[in-house]
Amino acid sequence: MKAYTYGPAPTPSQALTFHAAAPRPVLPPGSSCLLLRITHVTLNPADLVCLRLLPSWIPPLRSNPVPGMDFAGEVVEIGEGVTNPDADADSDRGLNVGDRVCGAVGLKEVFTGKGTLAEFVTIESTLVATVPTNWGGGEAAGVMGIAGQTAWAMVRRVVGEGSHDMTGMRVLVNGASGGVGTVLVQICKGFGADVVAVCSGAGEQLVKELGADEVIDYQAHAALEDAIAERPGQHPFDVIFDCVGVQALYERSPQYLKPHGQFINIVGGWSQGVVPFVRNKMRPRLLGGTPRSYSLFLLSASGDYAREVAALVEQGIVKRAVIDCEFPLEQAAEAFEKLAAGRAKGKVVIRVQSCSL
Ligand SMILES: NC(=O)c1ccc[n+]([C@@H]2O[C@H](COP(=O)([O-])OP(=O)(O)OC[C@H]3O[C@@H](n4cnc5c(N)ncnc54)[C@H](OP(=O)(O)O)[C@@H]3O)[C@@H](O)[C@H]2O)c1
Repeated sequence: MKAYTYGPAPTPSQALTFHAAAPRPVLPPGSSCLLLRITHVTLNPADLVCLRLLPSWIPPLRSNPVPGMDFAGEVVEIGEGVTNPDADADSDRGLNVGDRVCGAVGLKEVFTGKGTLAEFVTIESTLVATVPTNWGGGEAAGVMGIAGQTAWAMVRRVVGEGSHDMTGMRVLVNGASGGVGTVLVQICKGFGADVVAVCSGAGEQLVKELGADEVIDYQAHAALEDAIAERPGQHPFDVIFDCVGVQALYERSPQYLKPHGQFINIVGGWSQGVVPFVRNKMRPRLLGGTPRSYSLFLLSASGDYAREVAALVEQGIVKRAVIDCEFPLEQAAEAFEKLAAGRAKGKVVIRVQSCSL
């Protein structure tokens, strides 16, 4: 089969190695996995981190360091250890050979070399969702993958399990035109929130189409936090979702976030995530700490999230997947370079095999 492996290098084209005849994985006896024929992989900023940082000389990465987290494909074989959902009257997860499925593997799988950028992969059956009706593989991988799961998990943290109600809430989505933001805007709007989106002018029309009530072009202002604080006649926000990692947005938040509002950041690098997290959580208000709740959310990819996002698609809450561009498998390095440029509107897709369904 065709597949990519990777080694640590500064650029994707240096890091990725294309294999035209890599060994195809097989399901061991009793396996709880599915053998999938992958049709599409979508990329996430975390894929770039893996490419740059994870040394392939560390066992077990050495044996099979395939990159990639999001996937869409079709079931080729079902492991003997997969509980037959058809036999379970309560289950709506009847998986059969030929079914189209999607979702994401976690960093654990990528760390151990079991990424998705290959024609065939074995994936735990619990990690997959069924591709929503009339959706293509690239769309499904992008929305049921890491980005959509993150958007949904952040909203779920706010509304609580089982609730779909954000009526009367005002939310700010920073980074609204990215993979996470494009799904986040749709969920918040679909749940009844008033959505203010932050993106560049190039993404304004798109995020309005996704449901944003108001758009702030961060490039038109010297400081985003000033622009938000100085908006005339605006009510404060109940929630700020920061998909960019702007520390000043949090520090100034008492001027535009309600006292019991929530600030949720998902950007976890040292300068945008870890150090601010320690400072924002630990510094007492008496010593100048910001008097607003702060959290740094880190997704653990899950089949439950993937299936819940698929349900939101079927219910018409998430109406569309935003695809920036699509590359054939042989041009995966270009796809990673496109992602690395940081300007993609929605998802960058790699077409692994043409979809037969
Ligand atoms: N914690 C977690 O579990 C988790 C999960 C997923 C993602 N993340 C992180 O969340 C961030 C967003 O992920 P993503 O997949 O949405 O990334 P992405 O798709 O690569 O984001 C690209 C988008 O960001 C916009 N953008 C760039 N700079 C901006 C700025 N200063 N203000 C507003 N928008 C800006 C770009 O549009 P313009 O250039 O037109 O502005 C582009 O549309 C990444 O840092 C990622 O690592 C974390």
